Amino acid sequence: MLTALRRVIDPEIRKPIVDLDMISAVAVDGGTARVALKLTIVGCPAAATIERDVREAAASVPGITDVAVDVSIMTRTERDALTDKLRGGRAKTSQFGPDSLTRIYAITSGKGGVGKSTLTANLGVALATMGLRVGIVDADVFGFSIPGIVGIPDAKPTQVNEMILPPIAHDVKVISIGMFVPAAAPGQTAARVVSWRGPMLHRTIQQFLTDVYFGDLDILLLDLPPGTGDIAISIGQLLPHAEIIVVTTPQPAAAEVAERSALVARQTGQRVIGVVENMAGLPQPDGSVLELFGTGGGADAAARLSTPEEPVRVLASIPLSIALREGGDTGRPIVLADPDDPAARAIVGLAEELASRGRGLAGRRLGFSVT
Ligand SMILES: Nc1ncnc2c1ncn2[C@@H]1O[C@H](COP(=O)(O)OP(=O)(O)OP(=O)(O)O)[C@@H](O)[C@H]1O
Ligand SMILES: [Mg+2]
Repeated sequence: MLTALRRVIDPEIRKPIVDLDMISAVAVDGGTARVALKLTIVGCPAAATIERDVREAAASVPGITDVAVDVSIMTRTERDALTDKLRGGRAKTSQFGPDSLTRIYAITSGKGGVGKSTLTANLGVALATMGLRVGIVDADVFGFSIPGIVGIPDAKPTQVNEMILPPIAHDVKVISIGMFVPAAAPGQTAARVVSWRGPMLHRTIQQFLTDVYFGDLDILLLDLPPGTGDIAISIGQLLPHAEIIVVTTPQPAAAEVAERSALVARQTGQRVIGVVENMAGLPQPDGSVLELFGTGGGADAAARLSTPEEPVRVLASIPLSIALREGGDTGRPIVLADPDDPAARAIVGLAEELASRGRGLAGRRLGFSVT
């Protein structure tokens, strides 16, 4: 019976409920199985799913004809024990310290509106499709947009004690300030505005990295606001080992602005691994290509950012794509909805390249330099 119940996974924590001590008793009496199930919190959104899965798992055991599930809620002490267990006994520190094996990519840009969030969301989904464990932190606190792009505009995280379980979209764990600000009243948008000063922004990002339980991730993507403001500096301080991907349009004048955002990242020791050129040529029905934003911006930015020790390449060039834009508006990332679209293919290509960079120290800058 326990073997069968081991197959039941908590959809939010993504671990077997048996390991989470959510099964407190099992009794078999003839053909009847009685399972005592303990949920982490009252009103747990996954309650119905877990109960159904428990019922099915118990009923799958040969000889069982009847299943009774007694549902109760964990006590405060039991919940504390669970959160401690999930944190692996670690104190309340970032899960993404320098010793973590998670690769962290921060998506930045000089100018706004160049496609960072669209790229981050699609890249995350593409990496998850390849079987990697992926998280996205929407670090654009003022201009949060990731929940909408991945199709969970109204998702709310579940809170267990001080631990926050991030909602999951297309297998990607996502956290965004948009999940905490109250929904706008009908016809009103102002209610969803976040207007904080630097220290509050810093605390928010810090909380995303400490209190949000991502579990073991292969890759964490950070969607940054444009430019070199408070958040970029906080990310630099909190995650000096994050690697930077700079997004720019092909417009030659954009390259210089792109360069600035990367230079701020470098000051905190972050490594710039490459440039993504977005909104490149749009293929026309007659076979020609419409270069709406010109050409060369990606290569130009990469050349400006390259140093003898740290050459910077153009990692991908993503064409203008109506489907990519529409997918962002409707919450259906095109890497899933329209994988043959040239923009989707370019993003998947980038995902493959990032995935093949592997985990751990490979390619990571060590804390010393040769003089
Ligand atoms: N390759 C593309 N082709 C067509 N539209 C695109 C492309 N990339 C992004 N877009 C669209 O451009 C707009 C801006 O994109 P997005 O919000 O991702 O940019 P951003 O850099 O995150 O902006 P901000 O700086 O405001 O955070 C969105 O409407 C998005 O759908
Ligand atoms: Mg954005």
